[in-house]
Order: sequence, then C-alpha cells, then structure tokens
Amino acid sequence: MLKLPGLIDVHVHMREPGAAHKEDWDTGTQAALAGGATTVLAMPNTNPPVTDKAGLKLAQTAASEKARCDWGLYLGAGADNAGSTVDLAKEVVGLKMYLNQTYGPLRLDDMRHWMTHFETWPADLPIVAHAEGHTVAAMVLLAELFNRPVHIAHLAKADELAIIRKAKERGIPVTCEVAPHHLFLNTDFLEKLGPGPGEVRPRLASPADNAFLWENLEFIDCFATDHAPHTVAEKRGENPPPGFPGLETALPLLLTAVREEKLTVDDISLRYHTNPEKLFNLPSQPETWIEVDENAEWTIRGAEQFTKAQWTPFEGWRVTGKVERVVLRGETVFREGKILAAPGSGVPVKSGESALR
Ligand code: NCD
Ligand code: ZN
Ligand code: ZN
Repeated sequence: MLKLPGLIDVHVHMREPGAAHKEDWDTGTQAALAGGATTVLAMPNTNPPVTDKAGLKLAQTAASEKARCDWGLYLGAGADNAGSTVDLAKEVVGLKMYLNQTYGPLRLDDMRHWMTHFETWPADLPIVAHAEGHTVAAMVLLAELFNRPVHIAHLAKADELAIIRKAKERGIPVTCEVAPHHLFLNTDFLEKLGPGPGEVRPRLASPADNAFLWENLEFIDCFATDHAPHTVAEKRGENPPPGFPGLETALPLLLTAVREEKLTVDDISLRYHTNPEKLFNLPSQPETWIEVDENAEWTIRGAEQFTKAQWTPFEGWRVTGKVERVVLRGETVFREGKILAAPGSGVPVKSGESALR
C-alpha cells in the first residue's frame, strides 16, 4: 500500500450556486475524496458568479452545509468589481481572471481591467488566470510589470510552457498548473470522443504538445483537474458546454504513468500537494493521508463515479492504482469505495468567513 499526503486540487467547478443539476458541493466533494483529494479550491464561474459579497455568501453557505472535504473559494475578477475585491480578500484563496473564451459569464478583454485588478488585489494573495496562447505571454508581462506572482490555470500547449519556462529562468514570479486531460489526451482522441464530449477549454492540443509537457515537467508547478462537470445530455446536445469531469480519474492516470516511468510518485506529491499548499498558503491538514493500492488494475467507467457528470473522457481506460482509504484529520472519510464523511464536515481553508455570520 502506497501512502500519499491528502491531495489538493486547486481547480475545480462545484457548480453551486446555480447549476446543481451538474454538480453540487455534496457530490463534488464525494468525487474529490474518492479521487484522493482532501482539499478543493472552487472556481467562481457559478450563477450568480462569485464576484461580490452576495455571490460569495451563496457559495460559502452551500459549501459549509454540504462539503465533505476541506474547501476554498476564488473570487472572480469582473469589469466593475475591482473596487470591492479587497474587502472580500480574506475569505477567498485568490482572484481568478478569465482572459479567453470559457464557460460562464466571466471574461475580461480590456487590458485596463487586468491592470486595475493587479493594482487593487492584495500583493500577498494569488492571482490565477485562465490564459491561453498569447494571453499567457500577456500575464507573464503583467507579473513582471507589477512584480507579483501570477498562476496560469490549465496550461495546455508547448508554446505556453516555453514562455513560462523562459519567464522562470528570468526569475519572473509565474507558476502554472496542468490538467491530466492535457497530458493524456490530444486531438487524435476527438473523433472517438465526439464533437460535444470533446469540447473543453483550453481545447485538446496536439500529440506534440503532450510530449513537450511531459518533457518539461520540471516547469509545471501543479497538477489540477479543472473538474468541470456537465451532464451527459448537455455534452451530447445542442451547444455542448466545454469541460471534463476529472476528480476521480486524475490520480489513477498519474499512477499509471508512474508505472510507465513517465514520472515518479514524488513528482505527483510535489505537484498535487506540496506546491499547491505553498502557492496558496493553505493550512496543513494534520493526520491526513491517502492509501493507494498501487497494483490494483481497473477500468474507468463514467457511470460508476460519484460526480453527477456520469461520463468521463477516459471511459474504458485500463489504469493501475486505486484509492483505498482517505484519512482526513484522523477520521477515515473514504474506504473501499464508500464515502464515510458527513455533509458539512469539510472545513474552509480561509477562516475569514464573515459573510456567513
Ligand atoms: C470550465 C467550466 O465548465 O466551468 N470549462 C472548461 O472547459 N474548462 C471553465 C474553465 O475552466 O475555463
Ligand atoms: Zn478556464
Ligand atoms: Zn476551470
């Protein structure tokens, strides 16, 4: 049995408020525990979005009542909320800026809005950007201009990582995360996935992009799922929304890659626990670990997941490595396929929960 620290997923979508038919804080955190994550940081592109006190309170209330693992929330950067973000900063893990096409209402095109947020957001708290292609380079420039850390979400392409690598070599404070689907899937898989299910932002990249990411793993700071659940009907219907569920498949895929000698278990711990904890300045979880059967071989089945998204782009994949047990603050919260944590037992990672009072 392999013992790992509780995984910290810095990029998930829990869909509450506003789209609980896709996921809610109960099912989403069950999926987290089943995948070995004991902390999730949730994105603000909900309905309403988490861009003000009212939106934040709705998300905090849902998470407090339902979460079965520890949790944090991002505040969304909007065109007109830069004046009020600082008041909410203590209650969130970071500011999220959307610079490219995505799911949900949050997108900033005017570069003056980017700069206003860089000026007003507290210097000691992270800024995370959904940036793709040229906007990755733009964020590197802003990190340099404002001399403050920027974290690039779900990086997918070789040229994006090449820019990050150059920036890191120059000492510019930029970090990045990669989602498993951008390591294990590429455009060759689109035909089999089908046009709707294959939709994700950033789009699946080329096999050469996959290869470059693997070769430059040392410049990738975090693994994060970008768990973006949508229902099977939505993915197969008209206007399919982009996004893949990922919480229950990430670790088995990575452990299978360990078998194939593409990385080590330490590479996983560093990027899926240690670096996330450090980058987001999270409290450490005492007496918390996961136990994995490294030799258990199994087949990924969307319909067997805890997430409401009863599908996965990895349907039918044979993987080696299964989460057997999760211990959170001394309590066994997952064992042999069963969730044992109660709804609401998860603890917020930020204690400034004044909006709840
Ligand atoms: C995400 C979602 O569905 O919320 N979709 C996606 O394709 N990644 C949005 C996002 O992460 O940009
Ligand atoms: Zn995104
Ligand atoms: Zn996302």
